[in-house]
Amino acid sequence: MIYSRWGRISLESNSVGKEFVITCFGESHGRCVGVVVDGCPAGLPLSERDVQKELDKRIPPQPEIVSARREKDIVEILSGTFNGLTTGAPICTLVWNKEVIPGEYDLIKDTPRPGHADYPARIKYGKFYDYRGGGRFSGRITVAFVMAGAIAKKLLGLFGVEVLAYATEIGNVKLRAIPTLKKIRRDTYKTAVRCPDLESAKEMEEAILKAKSEGDSVGGIVECIVSNVPVGVGEPLFDSLDADIAKMLFDVPAVKGVEFGAGFEAARLKGSENNDAYVIREGKIVTLTNNAGGVLGGLSSGMPILVRAAIKPTPSISKEQKTVDLSKMEETLIRVKGRHDPCIVPKAVPVVESAVAIVLVDHMLRAGIIPKVLRGRK
Ligand SMILES: Cc1cc2nc3c(=O)[nH]c(=O)nc-3n(C[C@H](O)[C@H](O)[C@H](O)COP(=O)(O)O)c2cc1C
Repeated sequence: MIYSRWGRISLESNSVGKEFVITCFGESHGRCVGVVVDGCPAGLPLSERDVQKELDKRIPPQPEIVSARREKDIVEILSGTFNGLTTGAPICTLVWNKEVIPGEYDLIKDTPRPGHADYPARIKYGKFYDYRGGGRFSGRITVAFVMAGAIAKKLLGLFGVEVLAYATEIGNVKLRAIPTLKKIRRDTYKTAVRCPDLESAKEMEEAILKAKSEGDSVGGIVECIVSNVPVGVGEPLFDSLDADIAKMLFDVPAVKGVEFGAGFEAARLKGSENNDAYVIREGKIVTLTNNAGGVLGGLSSGMPILVRAAIKPTPSISKEQKTVDLSKMEETLIRVKGRHDPCIVPKAVPVVESAVAIVLVDHMLRAGIIPKVLRGRK
């Protein structure tokens, strides 16, 4: 055991979930990034193709709007399936890191990047901090979210639940009109920025390229809609559905805000404006509006879950910024080199979708809506 001046040093919180437990492993510049999914029911048809399809969504084909690091990310499933079906045993999936350039991040060893995790991580973990590409703090870790999310989404699909995320804002360019579910399904991944409105997407792309040409970066907002969630999913008090989704989204690097439904705007409404009135439509109880974002009292309300994540601008930028040389305890200047995304939002869209799907599967297993063994479901 290694002790620092405050206590034990370890990066120890690597698992999440109670019934559908995922454990993420790997570093940006280590050998691989992977995830172990424990608690997936037996009998789910699962192939590497299913996971690969989701992983491929992480990397828009247009190289100019993402990092120059072009990992192919070919998934390998090492355990937990037999004859194309899950067995109920832990599923281990990984991708190998191939595009690692030694020495690429030497500059940041002693001069922490403003906005990244370098400074607090270096103080907390000292010489054990793997600073290469941000180590465990790299956005690359979200490959693990997407692999586990692929399994979660496949499971949810068997129960008619669909999770769809897309970009609604990038670099102050907002999506013009609320898209239909059909449009989100059809067009989101047609655009480099993962926005289903083609015209807004073009402007968002331009905003990214402009920031990039200035050695800068931009942020944005990812919205996620979950349809067909049964009423009553969630475990108040402390495992409320919205709280668990928010926690998982805040575990995605660069997420700085999460809101459901009307979100912060609800604070400015009157009760009569914010309450979602109940009506009967086609024999079902529904609400006329969805300011609650599909969650009341920590339980799903039966309306679509509507959640948004605010993504900050990429911290690593080539514009000159002030920092401190920790080895000399002197102020200095830094221009961050290396391969970085000028905007995180396009890659974050499938990550947000995965994070939400993982939490929902965990809760639907806990509620017994998803059984431990899937029989007769294809
Ligand atoms: C998909 C994804 C890709 C990212 N790419 C980069 C990147 O290229 N450069 C960078 O500095 N940060 C990138 N980040 C963000 C950092 O990992 C993050 O800002 C850092 O770990 C500090 O954590 P915090 O922003 O949550 O406080 C990325 C995040 C995600 C989710």
